[in-house]
Amino acid sequence: MTKVIAITNQKGGVGKTTTSVNLAAALAKMKYKILLIDMDPQANATQGIGINRDYIELSTYHVLTGEVGLEKVIQHSYIENLDVAPGEIDLAGIDLELAHVKQGREVRLKQALDKVKDYYDYVFIDCPPALGLLNTNALTSCDTVLIPVQCEYYALEGLTQLLNTIKLTQNHFNKKLSIEGLLLTMLDQRTNLGLEVSQEVRKYFKEKVYKTVIPRNIKLSEAPSAGICIFDYDSSSVGAQAYKELAKEVLSRNG
Ligand SMILES: Nc1ncnc2c1ncn2[C@@H]1O[C@H](COP(=O)(O)OP(=O)(O)O)[C@@H](O)[C@H]1O
Ligand SMILES: [Mg+2]
Repeated sequence: MTKVIAITNQKGGVGKTTTSVNLAAALAKMKYKILLIDMDPQANATQGIGINRDYIELSTYHVLTGEVGLEKVIQHSYIENLDVAPGEIDLAGIDLELAHVKQGREVRLKQALDKVKDYYDYVFIDCPPALGLLNTNALTSCDTVLIPVQCEYYALEGLTQLLNTIKLTQNHFNKKLSIEGLLLTMLDQRTNLGLEVSQEVRKYFKEKVYKTVIPRNIKLSEAPSAGICIFDYDSSSVGAQAYKELAKEVLSRNG
């Protein structure tokens, strides 16, 4: 059975893309068949896994406009077992472009994904930092959501809104949608703040919060500029170790 996980949080800069790329890469390197779908107009996940934007003719944008199926969009990445449905800047206009569509615009990704997903063990959807049609398409297509939470002041801010959005999507489009887990990211071990925030998040979300915490690690922020995952950039870094641990935890939660 394929598991589809949307990595979402309408806040920007919390580690969605870093988690999408490196969790996908970790599982691909463990021989699972993985698809990474980029729904962010910034296409950081696409570039972070080494797909040059000059070589993207078809993207998730063309899937949402209904021009092509996902199978035409999916590319192999440089990592074995890891395919990518790239994103591109045109995604930014999708809300306006589909404004006239009366029915079905929220399920376009789901319908396209249903045709290809059986080939994969896990599908990850990297979501944009906004609660519009791109995010709705992602939430409609997935089984669960993985929510990265940055260990900073205001970490919990916006989560209520996100949970409401999840509930609305459950009511209208995706009854079985549930929370995969919350992931504490960018923990700075030198400060008390990070510890306080993580305790706060665990108090509210209990066992939904992964035991694995992603530390702040410069290597994780450098790897995307080389277009490679953390395991190929610096496999001995604490960032690489943390994402490997996370991959194991995700696997164990999924039996
Ligand atoms: N654990 C980490 N340690 C250091 N830098 C990180 C870490 N996670 C993400 N970053 C950096 O922080 C920025 C935001 O992360 P990103 O994954 O792009 O967030 P989002 O997709 O939620 O906007 C990026 O520059 C990224 O390289
Ligand atoms: Mg991102």
